[in-house]
Amino acid sequence: MLDTKIFTPGQTSATGFAGLRAVLRDPLSGWPASLFEGEPLDYKLGPVRSIDTPRPEDVALVLLDQRDAFRRSPMVRLMLGRAMGDGLIIADGESWRLQRSIAAPVFRHSELKKLVPIFDVAARRMTADLGAGGEIAVLEPLTAATLDVIIESLFGDVALDRAAISRDVAHFLNVGGVPHLFDVLGLPAWVPRPGRGSSNAAARRLRKTSAQVLAKKRAEGGGGGAMTDHLLAATDPETGQGLSDAQLVDAVMTFVGAGHETTSVALSWTLWLLAARPELQEQLRAEGQALGDAIEADDLAYLDLHTRVIQEAMRLYPPVVSVLRQATRPVEMSGRHLRKGDFVNLITIAMHRNPDHWPDPDRFDPDRFLPEAVKARHRFAYLPFGGGATMCIGWKLALMEATVLLARLVQGFEVAAIPGAPPPYPTVRITMRPDNGMRLRLTPRGTL
Ligand code: HEM
Repeated sequence: MLDTKIFTPGQTSATGFAGLRAVLRDPLSGWPASLFEGEPLDYKLGPVRSIDTPRPEDVALVLLDQRDAFRRSPMVRLMLGRAMGDGLIIADGESWRLQRSIAAPVFRHSELKKLVPIFDVAARRMTADLGAGGEIAVLEPLTAATLDVIIESLFGDVALDRAAISRDVAHFLNVGGVPHLFDVLGLPAWVPRPGRGSSNAAARRLRKTSAQVLAKKRAEGGGGGAMTDHLLAATDPETGQGLSDAQLVDAVMTFVGAGHETTSVALSWTLWLLAARPELQEQLRAEGQALGDAIEADDLAYLDLHTRVIQEAMRLYPPVVSVLRQATRPVEMSGRHLRKGDFVNLITIAMHRNPDHWPDPDRFDPDRFLPEAVKARHRFAYLPFGGGATMCIGWKLALMEATVLLARLVQGFEVAAIPGAPPPYPTVRITMRPDNGMRLRLTPRGTL
């Protein structure tokens, strides 16, 4: 059976700043094994107190019951704000409320159904590009496909230099995706972060491109059916206010940044798990055999096993390994007294492997997501998309898109591990990616 526990907690022995650096670079081996058994971890960095918790009860408290006692961590703003401004994933308070209220209709199921043809075109382009298969680092073509999807969904059929965008997004997330020591220490944004210059330049280029496309659309009077056409025209039902030009750029940058690599990373881990399970690939093919030349929104209703496989892959390898919040007033959390300014890090990956909620937690078993199994679990034992009011706005889009991409991949190819190759290592760079780009052997089915 495949050993899915490819990381070993409790490996970082360095202390002080050296230890902190090591944990920032590789949190999975820095976190102690006890965290994965359900024990919160309490620590202090100078004046900063932080609690890492894998407990669903703490998630319920932080994201739901006492939500008003917490805000997003300023560290996330310091890392992502250079590209995403005060976008939805960074904002708090009234700015968050306005942006969420304006963006929510764009992510309604009825709107998302219209995007399925975009998902399918990207999926077919990707499988055509994979051509004769071979030993391939699949993360790159998957990321190209999910970037295509988000750009097309946001802008419609606008001519853009997608290769340049893709390079800049990847560079920004790669270099800027590791928390800088200065971010952790809370140094203000104007203090230059050594090593961050080129990722700042990438963020500036991306914002400029977004602003140009939005300005062109505004000048043309909008009216198209793409997401940005809706965002340009939408107003908040409570105040009648629309998004400013800067907020529109923030929104585009946020949806591009938050909405493509997350999905491709999830799919890369899904394929790795499937590589060890040829019989499950057969079952997926059987489920998808009635799919025609074009996948329609209604087809997704019967691709249940596809969805369960993706959900279970995101349990074992959640693309976002933790959700960070800071207390804005004193609050009690599972017997601990949190003071204003204390941090709480909800450690998704540890929660997802806690044996109290997930029997035999390292086993890959998509049946954990059958409806009766889901009903029997704590609702916050599974947190790949966060929870409460700030739950990922794109979760349904991501699942629908991933289902279509997976269906086309397994219909087109047999997926297998490369014999003798070491397993991938999950590196945390905003998302949790395979360090080897997920090298797998793809064999076109027609040639089997
Ligand atoms: C597998 C794919 C995805 C994963 C694992 C994922 C994960 C998450 C998580 C964990 C959060 C919560 C962050 C927090 O509470 O601080 C979040 C929020 C968010 N995600 Fe996603 N996401 C995915 C796909 C997408 C897509 C496709 C989009 C947009 C097109 C998107 C846009 C956002 C936005 C805007 C937020 C902030 C929501 C708010 O605070 O109101 N995500 N996502």
